[in-house]
Amino acid sequence: MAKKKTAAITGVGAYLPDYILDNIELSQMVDTSDEWIMSRIGIKTRHILKGEGLGTSFMGEKAVLDLLEKTNTDPMDIEMVICATVTPDMFFPSTANLICYKTGMKQAFGFDLSAACSGFLFALNTASKYIEAGTHKKVIVIGADKMSSIINYKDRNTCPIFGDGAAAGLLGPSTRGYRSMMHSDGGGGQHLYMKAGGSAYPATHETVENNWHYVYQEGQAVFKAAVSNMADTSVEIMERNKLTPDDIAYLVPHQANLRIIEATAHRMGLAKEKCMININKFGNTTAGTIPLCLWDYESRLRKGDNLILSAFGGGYTWGSIYVKWAYNGGDFSK
Ligand code: UT7
Repeated sequence: MAKKKTAAITGVGAYLPDYILDNIELSQMVDTSDEWIMSRIGIKTRHILKGEGLGTSFMGEKAVLDLLEKTNTDPMDIEMVICATVTPDMFFPSTANLICYKTGMKQAFGFDLSAACSGFLFALNTASKYIEAGTHKKVIVIGADKMSSIINYKDRNTCPIFGDGAAAGLLGPSTRGYRSMMHSDGGGGQHLYMKAGGSAYPATHETVENNWHYVYQEGQAVFKAAVSNMADTSVEIMERNKLTPDDIAYLVPHQANLRIIEATAHRMGLAKEKCMININKFGNTTAGTIPLCLWDYESRLRKGDNLILSAFGGGYTWGSIYVKWAYNGGDFSK
């Protein structure tokens, strides 16, 4: 019997802006300290995109160009592009559409997907269905956010957490393992949101004066929900696929808080060494974190490695994907 067609990631590319905002500089902007940020969140530095008129598509374009070059892929061969982001350049055209245009992916149709910090997983899952259906063979999934465009650098509850960055994965057909579990709960929306700028509260002097165009977060409520939901779904996907901790090469967790990552790994019975962690360098880049982890750890990954990708974010949204890695780090011939 023919094996079921699934989707596999066959390459990753990334872009991080040059400017690095460290905890020392941040503690001159708000009442915080390196010690507090390191002990409560685990972030040392984050990258910030500077430059007038540069939005998320600027970073997405660079990540895609990196991906196309590394994988020796002709942009005209790409059939579909999904960009997960909550900081699109503008409402329309979509950021994916702009990236397709800027990188010469003229045969592709592109659209954005909004699921906050779970965005990359939701996009990966959507794209995988086109691959499984057999209608598409080369799809690019981007996770990109310019969080600095919606962060209030006078609010110490949120500004240390976030950074800017983009990464992209190339998806192709495979017969290797791929399973997903996705969830959302609109009831969680009240704890993490950006109030204005949409159709409910279009921009006015009042919305600007009230700081409604910035991220609002009730940290503790989100923290508790993140720990329980990320851990639950990660353990469940292990159980459903009969995976023991020994079977797993890496947990690839959303990088929101080192304590959330450690709690999730602990519940899964995984040692810290089996956990991709780069929150210290890049902070929380929202949809960017998971593909940035894959890109950062790519050289250590081996064909056949079992990975559990796991995220929790605004919405609430959360989920886990089990994927078998398709190539040895740095080898794009397969
Ligand atoms: O990626 C999307 C999903 N987001 C998340 O998963 C984030 C989840 N939440 C968190 O990671 C954490 O809740 C935060 C990092 C946001 C906050 O950490 P916390 O340990 O929950 O701190 P807290 O909000 O309970 O505040 C504890 C204390 C407060 O002071 P008092 O009232 O005890 O005197 C805060 O005012 O820490 C204070 N505080 C700070 N102090 C120094 C809050 N932010 C800062 C700061 N620097 N930046």
